[in-house]
Amino acid sequence: MDRYAIILAAGKGSRMKSRREDISKVSFPILGRPLVKWIIEALKPLGAKRLIAIIGFGGATSKPIVEEDCEVVWQREQKGAGHAVMQVAPLLEGKEGQTIICCGDTPLITTDLYQGLFDAHEAGGNSLTIMTSVLEEPHGYGRIVRDAKGNVIQIREQKDCDEEAEKIREVNAGVYVFDNKELFEALHHITTNNAAGEYYLTDVIELFAKKGLKVGTFEVADIDETMGVNDRYQLSVAEANLKARINREHMLRGVTIEDSDSTFIGPDVVIGADTIIRPGCYIMGETVIGEGNIIGPNSYIENCVIGSENHILSSWLNDVVVGDDNQIGPYFHARCGTTIASHTSLGNFCEFKNVRVDSGAKAHHLSYIGDAIVGEDANIGCGVITANFDGVNKNITTIGKGAFIGCDSVLVAPVEIGKESLVAAGSVITENVPDGAAAFGRSRQTNKPGTAKRLLKKD
Ligand code: UD1
Ligand code: CA
Repeated sequence: MDRYAIILAAGKGSRMKSRREDISKVSFPILGRPLVKWIIEALKPLGAKRLIAIIGFGGATSKPIVEEDCEVVWQREQKGAGHAVMQVAPLLEGKEGQTIICCGDTPLITTDLYQGLFDAHEAGGNSLTIMTSVLEEPHGYGRIVRDAKGNVIQIREQKDCDEEAEKIREVNAGVYVFDNKELFEALHHITTNNAAGEYYLTDVIELFAKKGLKVGTFEVADIDETMGVNDRYQLSVAEANLKARINREHMLRGVTIEDSDSTFIGPDVVIGADTIIRPGCYIMGETVIGEGNIIGPNSYIENCVIGSENHILSSWLNDVVVGDDNQIGPYFHARCGTTIASHTSLGNFCEFKNVRVDSGAKAHHLSYIGDAIVGEDANIGCGVITANFDGVNKNITTIGKGAFIGCDSVLVAPVEIGKESLVAAGSVITENVPDGAAAFGRSRQTNKPGTAKRLLKKD
């Protein structure tokens, strides 16, 4: 039986109370991954023949997020989830198969749960199976209304609940598997005759029941898995849950996380065993970290590849490749394709941008090095700056193997500092320094005997 999947992602998300008109709720990120992308990633392993995302409000931002994995269908006006699914009719109407409809705002639902819903659908021989939860506080959710025999006859939306329905604790999680043909047939008959004045997708349920089609439920015990993100409080609750889930997986694979609460690791990050993550770290994007590292406290690492046995203390690394056995930080900031070989020592308020650092190099204090090559075992003194930008172009500085750059020097690029050379402290270097040479690029000092007292007005 063919499977189809539809993700509802066109709604405005008014409860997010955003002032921006260009972003949809489903593009709000959790751990760097947009809400709707969590749903896409969980659905992918189910092998649906077509994966369709319906976008609308803020669609220009939603589109690039979904289009890599999904066919995109627009709902130009947001007249309810039922109306959203009607927009898919040209693609799916009349086809034999099962269609799963998911909300783009339930990021905690796992592949296993989606699979469980399909399994229940098939085992029950149902035409429609609804994912449900029984909640202590059902307010806000659509309620599952059953007849005296226990058959589902309706989903009643919160806004349409009377006192009786308000008490029902069994709620709609917003995920359904439908017989595809019957779904699109029923959508012809739903109306906007309800408290919200919208085409409710959930009205299809009553139509199925009235037609005598078998409607079943698949109950999920843990509401932490089915919760919808409608406001920013729920966004934070969902984030806390996903964070704990990801951290737990890393811990069970051999990573030490000292304080899970303050550790934020993105869903695509890979970390090797015996690495220790100290409190206060953000590790995001496509980062891959090897074994036996000590990271943090307080480091931000995004889109980096990090080898093994490094010590990365309180640093900010973005788009950086780090080899093995390096000592980085505290307060080291590296970015834009910087690569660091092995056995280097870099830190204490240094910023490196687009630099190749060869093994054994050192920069311990207060430097800006940009668009440069720092040779093997080179030593960069305190306060060294590469003047890489002349106001028009970025230029390269090359520092040779074993070179010693004295404190507070400015290397005005483009410039080459030779191997085993020395740059005297306080120099402004505008010309290449040959291998082995010592360069003095500063004015000579004069001492005036006895003058200090007069200048300090102590006479
Ligand atoms: C919905 C269900 C409710 C269920 C709850 C579970 C309906 C009518 N109600 O309520 O029974 O208990 O989810 O979390 O479905 N959307 C569109 N186009 C629209 C309107 C909405 O694509 O015109 C999308 C939204 O982007 C969202 C989804 O439909 O992903 C659900 O909409 P939302 O407003 O969040 O519905 P709830 O009030 O949470
Ligand atoms: Ca919702």
